Amino acid sequence: MTTRPYVIDRMISAKSIAARIETLSHEIEAEFADTDKLVVVGLLRGSFVFIADLVRELDLPVEVDFLEASSYGNATESSREVRILKDLRGAIEGRDVLVVEDIVDTGHTLFHVRQLLLSRAPHRLKTIALLDKPSRREAPIKADWTGFEIPDEFVVGYGIDFAQRNRNLPYIGKVRFTDAVVTER
Ligand code: IMP
Ligand code: MG
Repeated sequence: MTTRPYVIDRMISAKSIAARIETLSHEIEAEFADTDKLVVVGLLRGSFVFIADLVRELDLPVEVDFLEASSYGNATESSREVRILKDLRGAIEGRDVLVVEDIVDTGHTLFHVRQLLLSRAPHRLKTIALLDKPSRREAPIKADWTGFEIPDEFVVGYGIDFAQRNRNLPYIGKVRFTDAVVTER
């Protein structure tokens, strides 16, 4: 828990997010047009709002499943490990899978989750991230679809938290700490 005071500056509006998801949904529909049933896998907890909006834009037969991963170890090590806290309920062998992530930051989470799911021999596996901070990348990964590329800022809202708060904001905002402000006079 943090006690440092901060404000949230609006960065991406709910309207822009909705418009971007609509565009992306058409690209995903085209990619998976021939699927029997797409398994949409949300990475908990940050993707819960994004996956809810995304699947409602998809005019495809979908199944929804969730996986919770947590990265641990020294953040400065490029070999950071990822632990599975909650695995999928269903098998994905031979299935078409879309992994939904909130933010790709260092990329370790998506890289490891993708490797793990590929080891289960899906028919096709694609990834989508609402946000991407390319300047922070350590692992060799880029999502197949990205909502918005953003600079190296700490963001919240639309499912994304800061110390478990602000997930319920309908927009994406950036956290700005207010306890180190120097007032000029
Ligand atoms: P990565 O393994 O470094 O790519 O970490 C990705 C995860 O870190 C995301 O799924 C988020 O849960 C978290 N994360 C990264 N950047 C932010 C941020 O700006 N705000 C909140 N969570 C973040
Ligand atoms: Mg996440």
